[in-house]
Amino acid sequence: MGLREVTPAVRDLVATTQAMMQAGKGILAMDESNPTSSRRFAKLGIPQTVDARRAWRELILTTPGLGDYISSAILYDETIRQATADGTPFLTVLAKAGIVPGIKVDAGAKELAAHPGEKVTEGLDRLRERLVEYRQMGARFAKWRAVITIGKEIPSRACLEANAHGLARYAALCQEAGMVPIVEPEVLMDGDHTLERCAEVTEAALHTVFEQLYRQCVVFEGMILKPNMVLSGADCPVQASVEEVADVTVKVLLRTVPAAVPGVAFLSGGQSAELASLRLNAMNVRWRGKAPWVLTFSFSRAIQQPAMDLWRGEASQVAAAQKVLHHRALCNGMARRGEYRPDMEAR
Ligand code: 13P
Repeated sequence: MGLREVTPAVRDLVATTQAMMQAGKGILAMDESNPTSSRRFAKLGIPQTVDARRAWRELILTTPGLGDYISSAILYDETIRQATADGTPFLTVLAKAGIVPGIKVDAGAKELAAHPGEKVTEGLDRLRERLVEYRQMGARFAKWRAVITIGKEIPSRACLEANAHGLARYAALCQEAGMVPIVEPEVLMDGDHTLERCAEVTEAALHTVFEQLYRQCVVFEGMILKPNMVLSGADCPVQASVEEVADVTVKVLLRTVPAAVPGVAFLSGGQSAELASLRLNAMNVRWRGKAPWVLTFSFSRAIQQPAMDLWRGEASQVAAAQKVLHHRALCNGMARRGEYRPDMEAR
């Protein structure tokens, strides 16, 4: 068996990954499902309506200078069909800002049968047809998130394998449709587990994912990995330092992620916005020239939350919230280069 041929279709996928992994930029995740969006809005007293979601996403997409630090944005089915209040389709706004559009295509994590406390992501039914439609609308990449929970005696092999299989089937369908798959196996930070335990579970999850990706003939050069950072559990009394998180995260990736993968774009997973920037920065400072892939961000909460806290659904707060959003994009763009400094937060 020889090396598989690099076809024009693969070259297109590679070109998309290059646009997504541009220097000094990262991926903005704004693909919250309606239930997730409603939870975040409810906490701030924002109405949980289509129009409030549209207004929030208009605020994000019309932030002046967003494209300076954001290469690409992950949209949700509702959002990709929406427009600004003056009728400009969101896809046009993105094109003008030079931001590549993508789309979340999974149907969410559901209870895994016979495995209490564990989940499996659904959404393969009719995925081929849905991808063709999104590609025609202009989406160039897609996202699918699998969720792995750490607990007493979990994750099970059944959970790791079912989720890896789903991710690999999804990724192969994306590449068939000419779209770059973002492959997101998220090991949650919930729990009192140690950094070492998170490292062990993340390593097992990533090994399983790449084995399945290989088996389903996914071209590594035409995909992006979106992993969790390796962290101490949120309730663990001992919290690892920024440097430990950076080093353990990259070491786990070096053991599991082929060098042919062009980019790793981390999720934030509930870390504070500033810690997420600090940790990404430390990876890029400490592993400069030693990691084979781009290390960047694909944050939702760590970019959006500070701005949403200010906006709270008030039209009068739009400009102020956009400034905060732009600032977080800038800080993460700097962290992607290893040039972020905590004093950038004092404004
Ligand atoms: P967070 O950065 O809030 O973890 O979201 C990233 C994401 O896209 C989850 O699927």
